[in-house]
Formats: sequence, C-alpha cells, structure tokens
Amino acid sequence: MSIFDQTNKRRCTNSVKWDAMDKVYGLTDASDILPMWVADMDFTAPVAVTKALREHAEKTVFGYSFVGEEALQSIIDWQNTRHNWQIEKDSILFCNGVVAALANCITALTNPGDKVLISSPVYPPFYNIPKSNAREVISCPLVEQDGTFVFDFEVFEQALSQNIKAYILCNPHNPGGYVWDEATLKEIVRLCAKYDVLIISDEIHSDLMIDGATHTPLAKIAGAEIDRIITCMAPTKTFNLAGIQVAYMIVTDKRKRLKLEAINMASGQGSLNTFASVALQAAYTEGSSWLDELLTYISKNMDYAIKELEQLPGIRITKPQGTYLLWIDYRDLALDEKEMMKRLLETGKLALEPGTKYGEEGRGFLRMNVACSFETIKDGVQRFKLALQS
Ligand SMILES: Cc1ncc(COP(=O)(O)O)c(C=O)c1O
Repeated sequence: MSIFDQTNKRRCTNSVKWDAMDKVYGLTDASDILPMWVADMDFTAPVAVTKALREHAEKTVFGYSFVGEEALQSIIDWQNTRHNWQIEKDSILFCNGVVAALANCITALTNPGDKVLISSPVYPPFYNIPKSNAREVISCPLVEQDGTFVFDFEVFEQALSQNIKAYILCNPHNPGGYVWDEATLKEIVRLCAKYDVLIISDEIHSDLMIDGATHTPLAKIAGAEIDRIITCMAPTKTFNLAGIQVAYMIVTDKRKRLKLEAINMASGQGSLNTFASVALQAAYTEGSSWLDELLTYISKNMDYAIKELEQLPGIRITKPQGTYLLWIDYRDLALDEKEMMKRLLETGKLALEPGTKYGEEGRGFLRMNVACSFETIKDGVQRFKLALQS
C-alpha cells in the first residue's frame, strides 16, 4: 500500500480541478464527471509540509514577514542536489506563481508591440500573458518525430530572425512531457544569442522526472549567455502546493533583476504570503523521499493507462519523460475535437483537456492528468473506453 493509493475527498472544497468543471466545460451539472484535466494532483502534500504549516498557524501572529535565510538556502540546496545546478542567493526573486513570473518578465523586459516567440503546442498562458500585455505572439510549431515533438531549428531560426524580443521556453515541455536534451538546449541558446533574444525558461515541471530522466536547467548549460536567461521555478507542481502560490525566478543579470524589482514596486507586489515560504522550505528540505515515491507511482499509472488505452483502435500514446500528463493522439480516429469532447463528457463522464487548448498543433490530441490514485486511473480508463465504444 502506497500513501498515494489514498483517495482524498476534493469535491466541495472549492477545488478548481473538482469543483469548477461546470464553468470550464459549460455543463449544468458536473457532479458525476471525473476530473483528469488541470495539472493539479489528487495527492496530499508531504506530511512535513502540513506539519510546518500547522506549526506556523499555531504561532497565531501573522504580521509582515520576509523570506528567511533557511528558505533561501533550501532553494539553493534543492537545485544543487536535484539538478546539480549551483545558484547564487542574490539571483533569486520571488513571485506568487510562475504565471505571474512570466507576466513580470514580459512587462519588465519587453515593450508593448514587441514580438514574443513560443513553441507550440504549449501551455496556454504562453499565448495569453504576452497578448494581454499588448505584445505580439509569434507561434513557431514543434514538429513530430517518432511519436514526440522536437524542434525544427531551421524554422525556429527563421522565426527568431523576425525581430523577436523574447522567447518563452517550456522546459520540460507541457503538454507532452518532453525533457529537452542538452544538445537541443544549447542550440536554443546559440540561436537566441545570435538574434539577441531574451529567454524566459519556465521550468516548473523540472522535478517531475519519470523513469530516471534528467532535467537540464537551461541556464546551467548556457555558458557565457547565462545573463540572457530568466529561469522560473516553483515547488508547487512538484509537491501539489499550487493553492499556496509560491514561485521564484533565477536571474543572474543584475540589470534585469533591478527591472523586475521595479515592476514589483510599481504594482505593489513582491513579498510572499507568510505561509508560502514555510511550505517551500519544508518541501525542499524534507520532501525528497516523498517525491521519489511519487515519481515511481506516476510511472506505474502511466504504464497502466498507456497499455489499456492503446488497446483502443486509433489511440497512440508515447510515455512522457517528465510531468504527470499523458498526451493522447487520436488523429487516426474519424472524430473531430467537438465530438470527442462530447463523447468523453456525456458518455464517459470524464474531463480531459482538448489538444487545441495548447494551440492548433494540438488538434487530434487530448491531455490526461494521471497524478491520482491507481483506483482513479482504472476508473478514468474505463470511462475513456466507454466514451469511444459508444
Ligand atoms: C508550464 C507551466 N507553467 C506554469 C504553470 C502554473 O504555474 P503557477 O501555478 O505557479 O502560476 C503551469 C501549470 O500547469 C505549467 O504547466
């Protein structure tokens, strides 16, 4: 029996994953729908995190606080032990979330009207954040190769040459769970340097490495180009703490740090909720074995779901190297996305994410979150089969 076998009651807790499906999917009643959509796990956080939060609550005084030395050190140690990456304390800037960090980078380091490049299909805020801040989004498609998506560097360079100001990289990649190798990352850095492009590297999924895959922080291999990179990281995806809202940027270039600090100053942001740094520190100092157990569990969930779903004609799934999301290819079926979603929701009573949420290149794919108990995976697989067999 694993701690992850436990099923937690999340319905009626104001959970986005469990309680917002009616709004997200336009349903009048979503009470019988199984949510396997947004990237939020069903698992309880490590005991060390809940214990630290409880102890903090028991202090009963919640005045203004700052992030202490121990929390800062826990980030440095985590990056060192988990990713063999040495970072400096002064390079760390905090944020309430990685999406907020992306927004701060865009507003602080680019100007209205500037072009921002992304590699699609990709996490929706990569489109929305620059667009909402009056920047032009240029979407450069990844190309399919042996069941995964890869960079076509000719097309990528062509895009970069069009006066691009910033590139947002998803490392590892969501959706799809591609863990970019060092050669790919070096080529991204080389080309962005050639066209003097800022790189914002979203590495929120970096701790979720499946079957021994290795995450390479982009800045770690950037050599002399390190100052053109802002790395965005967080313990929230790793330890299921998204509601705690804590993230950080690693910014080696002092001028960029000053600009980012000025943006915080202008909007009155910048300090963390007093519980956020407590959760971060507990997760990073005491959460390692919890994470290792989680990764083994997720890998087994993936194996089961892939084996079962690939028995359905027209379904293909490549096991991801990172994250807990399956990118399900149903392009061989004569089903358009609307019909597929209708079947899943109405017949299967199952909420997955339609691929086009990640861009046009996602058409014919579904994203399925497998960070749940094995019982839930079995239920989800059954619901998927029911939807397709109808
Ligand atoms: C690539 C990526 N970046 C950022 C986020 C969200 O980060 P946050 O909750 O810290 O804003 C997600 C959540 O799924 C994600 O997949």
